[in-house]
Amino acid sequence: MAKAKSGMRRGLTAYGDEEFSLFLRKAFIKAMGYTDDALERPIIGITNTFSGFNACHRTVPELIEAVKRGVMLAGGLPVEFPTITLHESFAHPTSMFLRNLMAMDVEEMIRAQPLDACVLIGGCDKTVPALLMGAASANVPSIMLVTGPMVTGDHKGERLGACTDCRRFWARFRAGDISAKEINDLNSKLAPSAGTCMVMGTASTMALCTEAMGMMLPGGACIPAVMSERLRNAEATGTRAVAIARERLTPDKIMTSNAFENALRMLLAVGGSTNAIVHLTAMAGRLGIKIDLEKFDRMGRETPVLVDLKPTGQHYMEDLEKAGGAVMVLRELRPLLKTRALTITGKSLGWNIDHALPAWKQDVVRPFKRPIFGNGGIAVLRGNLAPGGAIIKQSAATPGLMQHEGRAVVFDTLEDLAARIDAPDLDVTRDDILVLRNAGPKGAPGMPEAGYIPIPKKLAKQGVKDMVRISDARMSGTAFGAIILHVTPESAIGGPLALVKTGDRIKLDVARRRLDLLVSDDELALRRKRWKPPKSRPGDERGYRKLFLDTVQQADRGCDFEFLTKPVAARAPSRKRP
Ligand code: FES
Repeated sequence: MAKAKSGMRRGLTAYGDEEFSLFLRKAFIKAMGYTDDALERPIIGITNTFSGFNACHRTVPELIEAVKRGVMLAGGLPVEFPTITLHESFAHPTSMFLRNLMAMDVEEMIRAQPLDACVLIGGCDKTVPALLMGAASANVPSIMLVTGPMVTGDHKGERLGACTDCRRFWARFRAGDISAKEINDLNSKLAPSAGTCMVMGTASTMALCTEAMGMMLPGGACIPAVMSERLRNAEATGTRAVAIARERLTPDKIMTSNAFENALRMLLAVGGSTNAIVHLTAMAGRLGIKIDLEKFDRMGRETPVLVDLKPTGQHYMEDLEKAGGAVMVLRELRPLLKTRALTITGKSLGWNIDHALPAWKQDVVRPFKRPIFGNGGIAVLRGNLAPGGAIIKQSAATPGLMQHEGRAVVFDTLEDLAARIDAPDLDVTRDDILVLRNAGPKGAPGMPEAGYIPIPKKLAKQGVKDMVRISDARMSGTAFGAIILHVTPESAIGGPLALVKTGDRIKLDVARRRLDLLVSDDELALRRKRWKPPKSRPGDERGYRKLFLDTVQQADRGCDFEFLTKPVAARAPSRKRP
């Protein structure tokens, strides 16, 4: 069998003469000042996801230097290259619209360039899934390094951080509790350092899930962005990247169905972001692995929320790091984990847990028998309103609303919501159910984080803090409330959400996992006959947007493009790991 090509010989540019291609490649790379000795080493690519618009990635340049140091200490040649970067607040219409574009960029750049392994540096919400989706499809040995969470700020003696407290204070401002001056002062304090949101938002959730999945060095998920330990973690990641290049430890050997199950357990135990379900589904889809929502719901019923972090609890990511980090959660979950799953260390997850520092007394990660929330932080709902499923983060919702029947108040689009939600004459009471449609993968497009429908101002001023809200949108992991998300199929393709009218009754029963529109089948059939799909918008007909609208799949398929997913594989027997 022909020996696989490595280093500069990988993926030569097609000139019809391989030796000439190599000769030319070396001539150009030597303009960077490399010696022949350097060019014979394993080549370790490093994704540079820095951008002046992405404060979550502010430290990427120094992380790259630390990774390079680690690579060179291990005898490799580090080469950084740029990829798309995404920040939540600097991506119109929403970063989710661009996640697949970033994943395609990462995949093709890893494939096109002569990399023996790749260090994936990401952090902000969509970047980690995009990097791992791309790396999984390219299937070149890869290791994840996250930028790490921000440290907390404070305001009048109260500890706070992005972005649960952004939403909390904004809600208070809307309700007239705090002044315009105070909300403006707070604006400078909510993101007080470089790094990712320091609550259990999508970035923290994805970092923890990636560690549980085994694609990151143990201990890498929680180290704050600005700590020196973060740089040591980056150096160690660079060193390990050289080893995985030599071992040819490709993502498909680590990102197995067992590894995804471990990641889902972590998601549930940390009370993580609902977005992580969509991202893990998309990542798994790149490897022909299906995430079954029913199985996820069953896992939820046996996996309690153990981590006391905002928005479900009270602490922040730096507290979880001080408490011991991800391994403290993994240790508690151990009886439920697939401990034989291979990880980036070359050892099993169980081996990594056994060789971590012993636990110490702390109050951030609860013992399995004394959880924060006992019954599945995230529940999967079905019913005539969501035949393809919907989800609710019940651990961050008002318990009294988990069984609720109310009158629907429907907003047809995001624009309609913005125009009417605060109107003084909006016909709405605290017992009503707010419905937003046309905010799904195709509808918005990009399934924005609009599911956190604001409480109508007139109710907020009366002290209403939570209401049942339903949409085909997503919600930031930093948000909270009785919010039903990812209703599938979405309304823009004729899902039942498209048929709801203001005044209809809707029944939510989380205990029974039901979400039902209390309208007769005959009436729904009549409404379906009359339904017309939304008109196309300017810009829908060309470019990336057309590709997106033509090929994006529903939330239960991870919103990945259908041509990027791999057919679901037959189950392979698992092998023993050391
Ligand atoms: Fe980047 Fe929150 S905005 S992690």
